Amino acid sequence: MDITFLLNGEVVSLSNVSPTTTLLDWLREERGLTGTKEGCNEGDCGACSVMITDAEGSRALNGCILFLPQVNAKAVTTVEGMASADGTLHPVQETMVEHHGSQCGFCTPGFVVSMATAHLNGATDHDVQLAGNLCRCTGYAPIIRAAKAAEGAPVPEHLRTLKSKLAQDIPAPAKANGAPHVQPESSDELAAWYLDNPDATLIAGATDVGLWVTKGFRDLGAVAFLNRCADLRGITEDETGLRIGAMTTLTEVEAKLSPLHPSLGTMLRRYGSTQVRNAATLGGNIANGSPIGDGPPALIALGATLQLRRGDARRELPLEDFFLDYGKQDRAPGEFVEAITVPRQHDTLRCYKLSKRFDQDISAVCGCMSITGNGTEILTARIAFGGMAATPKRAAAAEAALVGQPWSEETIRKAMEAMAQDFTPLSDMRASASYRMEAAQNMLLRYFHDANGQATNLLEVSA
Ligand SMILES: Cc1cc2nc3c(=O)[nH]c(=O)nc-3n(C[C@H](O)[C@H](O)[C@H](O)COP(=O)(O)OP(=O)(O)OC[C@H]3O[C@@H](n4cnc5c(N)ncnc54)[C@H](O)[C@@H]3O)c2cc1C
Ligand code: FES
Ligand code: FES
Repeated sequence: MDITFLLNGEVVSLSNVSPTTTLLDWLREERGLTGTKEGCNEGDCGACSVMITDAEGSRALNGCILFLPQVNAKAVTTVEGMASADGTLHPVQETMVEHHGSQCGFCTPGFVVSMATAHLNGATDHDVQLAGNLCRCTGYAPIIRAAKAAEGAPVPEHLRTLKSKLAQDIPAPAKANGAPHVQPESSDELAAWYLDNPDATLIAGATDVGLWVTKGFRDLGAVAFLNRCADLRGITEDETGLRIGAMTTLTEVEAKLSPLHPSLGTMLRRYGSTQVRNAATLGGNIANGSPIGDGPPALIALGATLQLRRGDARRELPLEDFFLDYGKQDRAPGEFVEAITVPRQHDTLRCYKLSKRFDQDISAVCGCMSITGNGTEILTARIAFGGMAATPKRAAAAEAALVGQPWSEETIRKAMEAMAQDFTPLSDMRASASYRMEAAQNMLLRYFHDANGQATNLLEVSA
């Protein structure tokens, strides 16, 4: 594939790049830019963080699971590009020195990139911004102190003007297509191509697919990058609800849905890390069919509908019906996820993510529920779990035990018992089957107390 992008301010054009060469490998092996480090090579440690800028702004991403065509027509700034041309350090580099934010230094370039990106965006929630950067030896306090100390400093000129430089230097980017691989510009283009190439791999944010390559060493065959299909991106709203394009990132979903459903916002803040949420798309989180994804249980509890497209044919189905069995979804060859619609509703949603670590961890159990009533009896109940079955799944027996019953702890406890009929969870490294069941049942009890305004999170770890 042929691509053009800005690298630390300079235009780079590449021909015939392999679509699955990662930006990290290319930077280190082809350009000798070894400041960007490889720690885990799977999106977990942030040592490979790079700043990616386009017309919409700048964000930190993990270079180890970012394929070169994904940066086509964008600006890549590595740690080498943070200081000004005259050698003046970036304010976060200065404060890292002043506050002793580095010891062995292996994690430092990744931290500096994340900090500089947050600084550029005026973000001061440093715990959130840096949750995807791991440090083994310094400890986080000096690093957070350094980030705070740089807050008021002006953004260096070369970063402040990067967006306009990009528009000026790469006004009409090359088409990245290079048979058999494509980077379509619209969902129409994608639909036509995918119909003819149903065995191809679709690549959205690559937070799953990236690992198939870096850890699974898989040859993906023909691929389509979806990141330039503008009409698959973004969230529109009308009186019936929200329509979320499949390519909308988790960061964008979090920003839009948090005010409407604050508990979902709280959970999404713990979805991977800032770098992962900046790349991962909602469409990918659903299409991968993972039984432990955090998006589907929440969307099922909200009564979301999936919009699928194959060629010119479109169909929709309740999200829960998409997941047929482990690794099996109701998706025909050549069919892709176009959007997810979420009905407008009064917020009764609560999401509970149970994982061993607070940040950057996959759920052992993710329980999302929305229960409505008329003050005396329960009218509707939508309860969905991840981590309890081979697919994201509703707790049908527990729901049935609630509807039509009084809103009382007795009713809730009966529904907790009924939940035992809904699931036969697995034991694995994250949790035992009995722990999962007990935790899921207790999430329903927690919902009851939360909805009644009784604090239940006294022992919850918070950043
Ligand atoms: C470090 C790390 C932490 C993570 N933490 C979490 C977490 O806390 N919670 C969680 O739920 N997940 C987590 N994940 C998993 C991952 O981020 C999600 O599953 C993600 O949403 C996948 O989206 P993507 O855009 O990156 O998909 P990709 O990796 O690009 O694709 C995933 C799959 O979906 C297919 N696909 C993508 N888009 C479409 C489409 N529009 N139509 C049809 N098929 C499509 C692809 O072909 C592929 O099979 C984590 C991943 C990493 C690497
Ligand atoms: S090397 Fe660890 S996140 Fe990329
Ligand atoms: S300074 Fe050594 S890992 Fe962070």
